[in-house]
Amino acid sequence: MKKRFTEDIEKVLLTESQIAARVKGLAEQLMQDYEDKDLLMVGVLTGATPFYTALVMEMDLPLEMHFIRASSYGAGTESSGKVELRYDLEVDLQGRDVVIVEDIIDSGNTLSALKALFLQRGANSVACCCLLDKKERRTADIEADYVGFEVPDEFLVGYGLDYAGKYRNLKYVGTLRPEVYSN
Ligand code: IMP
Ligand code: MG
Repeated sequence: MKKRFTEDIEKVLLTESQIAARVKGLAEQLMQDYEDKDLLMVGVLTGATPFYTALVMEMDLPLEMHFIRASSYGAGTESSGKVELRYDLEVDLQGRDVVIVEDIIDSGNTLSALKALFLQRGANSVACCCLLDKKERRTADIEADYVGFEVPDEFLVGYGLDYAGKYRNLKYVGTLRPEVYSN
């Protein structure tokens, strides 16, 4: 049966043009802060990919693109804060200036684990750049250095964020109709 994404969306929180404008702003900020550095941008698969791509393409700097996959277990499953690497970097971080790019910072477990790991591997600096920040939900002791938008504690989809693996390729960020969860 044919189905369109838009039928499942309850409300749009951030439009395509709002996101594009903010991404440009973040890119400019990063370019200023890293113009004299040997920048390595690490995208966290899979959710960060739309944001990551849009961001690096606005940056007029000779940066390097690398990816990592991590999965975190929140409270309710295993001990919260545990982060497992599923796909690792293939680059030496010794002395490098790293920016981790994520779709959203929620509990903060993923980013705090990755930041600690990269510093342990000898990175000169590690900053975090997130499109979205669910500040109210933070349990780990970490803040993103670059944030696109602060968002309320609602389950969001689009622009990289998924529900059951879908909706990542939406051009905007929104919430799902309640029926979608019960299907
Ligand atoms: P945390 O900061 O380690 O808790 O985890 C952040 C990860 O949780 C993100 O990379 C997303 O994969 C996922 N996540 C958090 N909030 C949402 C949401 O509203 N929609 C979809 N995924 C989310
Ligand atoms: Mg993610």
